[in-house]
Amino acid sequence: MSQPILIFDFGSQFTQLIARRVRQAQVFSQVLPYSTPLETIKALKPSGLILSGSPSSVDAPDALQGDPGVFDLGIPVLGVCYGMQWMAKTLGGRVEKASKREYGLSAVTYDINSQLFSGMDARSDSWMSHSYQVEQVPEGFTATASTATCPVAAMEAPGRRLYGVQFHPEVTHSVQGEQVIRNFVLNICDSARDWRMDSFADQAIKEVRQAVGEGTVLLGLSGGVDSAVVAALLSKAIGDRLYCVFVDHGFMRKNEPEMVKQVFSAHFPVHLSAIDASDRFFDKLKGVTDPEQKRKIIGAEFVAVFREEALKLGKLDHFAQGTIYPDVIESGAAPGSVTIKSHHNVGGLPKELGFTSLVEPIRSLFKDEVRELGRVLGLPSELTDRQPFPGPGLAIRTLGELTRPKVHLTRESDAILIEEFERAGLHKQVSQFFTVNTDLRSVGVMGDGRSYDTAVAIRAVTTDDFMTADFARIPYDILALISRRIVNEVPGVNRVLLDVTTKPPASIEWE
Ligand code: XMP
Repeated sequence: MSQPILIFDFGSQFTQLIARRVRQAQVFSQVLPYSTPLETIKALKPSGLILSGSPSSVDAPDALQGDPGVFDLGIPVLGVCYGMQWMAKTLGGRVEKASKREYGLSAVTYDINSQLFSGMDARSDSWMSHSYQVEQVPEGFTATASTATCPVAAMEAPGRRLYGVQFHPEVTHSVQGEQVIRNFVLNICDSARDWRMDSFADQAIKEVRQAVGEGTVLLGLSGGVDSAVVAALLSKAIGDRLYCVFVDHGFMRKNEPEMVKQVFSAHFPVHLSAIDASDRFFDKLKGVTDPEQKRKIIGAEFVAVFREEALKLGKLDHFAQGTIYPDVIESGAAPGSVTIKSHHNVGGLPKELGFTSLVEPIRSLFKDEVRELGRVLGLPSELTDRQPFPGPGLAIRTLGELTRPKVHLTRESDAILIEEFERAGLHKQVSQFFTVNTDLRSVGVMGDGRSYDTAVAIRAVTTDDFMTADFARIPYDILALISRRIVNEVPGVNRVLLDVTTKPPASIEWE
């Protein structure tokens, strides 16, 4: 592997975004704690160093401090937000509380003669989030960008190869941010462009082997992308010392359990315990109509089944999880700390079963990178391109009490929707789409007779982050085709509705 870009993590929630931007420039990067000793840094022979932002302030008595020796290594250093302030203060500049806190998009003017801003427009919006700012640059530095309230929005001493930006080039809102990172890693650091997802895979496999040694690993497969990618990775790393448990609660999409079983026996032969526990779930859910109650029962039963299966396998050494970076951020975990995803199918397990460690090999990746890793590892596109699917599955898309015929109706109508979306190429544009069994009956005419059957709703949304969403604008002709097929092919349905609500006020799921 070529010389990495090292990223010093001062605890910013954007640190992994910096790493992602560096990867997008096809450069290998490594995130390290800000306190990494100088000797370790030297030994890694980095081509450059990026200092992240931080929730801490440089003025605080317990301000986070890296080794100041990094500024004399002769390698290029880019400080971002706190990183720049720490650089300024350490090298004799002055950092003070700004008269006005700057948060959100700011119009920034750049000195495009700086190598850091070369090829850019002289003015564009960048994301700011700071209450302290550099008031006086250290000796030998010049200011190279500004905003209305921040005279030193960037600084540099090119002779010493030191650069700083007050804004966050790593967040997508910063219009030319990607260019700033590219200029730094490709032009200033002259890093080799040899990072590919397969190098990540190789590295991750090596790390898993080191962490697991000769031990065994338990992994819960959910049918989703994340756990499938971890299974594929672990299968390559430790072969049949991987034990997977797949619990079918009876609320999976059409053919999903079969597909998971097929992939993890044919392509990735692992020990797979696939349990059809649907009877247990339907029993427990008899007579239950309240959405929260349904979720709770399903969550608890899932843990119970999983635990029983894990115990049957005997003592295993490690527990693996498909935690990805957005999960780490959502759970508010401090960088480097161990988080257990508060997902219903794993809650409380590791401690009870006495695992020696938690293996989370895709913890630093974003969703689209996880999909790419899956492709590199050879998972079929049916798995890597899956849309998100909630843990309780079709149970929260089948309103009211859960019975097998009602869930069957949800599943069959959903399969038609998926098929037609894929045929029309809509699955690439729409973030999530499914049908809902509304549990509502209405009158219709079928052939010569009267029907009194169920109405199915189509829910299709576009969203970036699933926190807010808009309803997808589906061409009428495709809706007409889907409606016709569902009513004709799914017995018990005589009406198809379209959900045209945004989130908020509605949620994406109906329960
Ligand atoms: P809502 O309905 O809250 O959904 O707008 C937002 C996103 O979260 C998914 N979702 C879940 N995912 N377990 C999950 O793993 C759950 O219990 C769950 N509930 C909702 C939902 O599918 C959408 O993508």
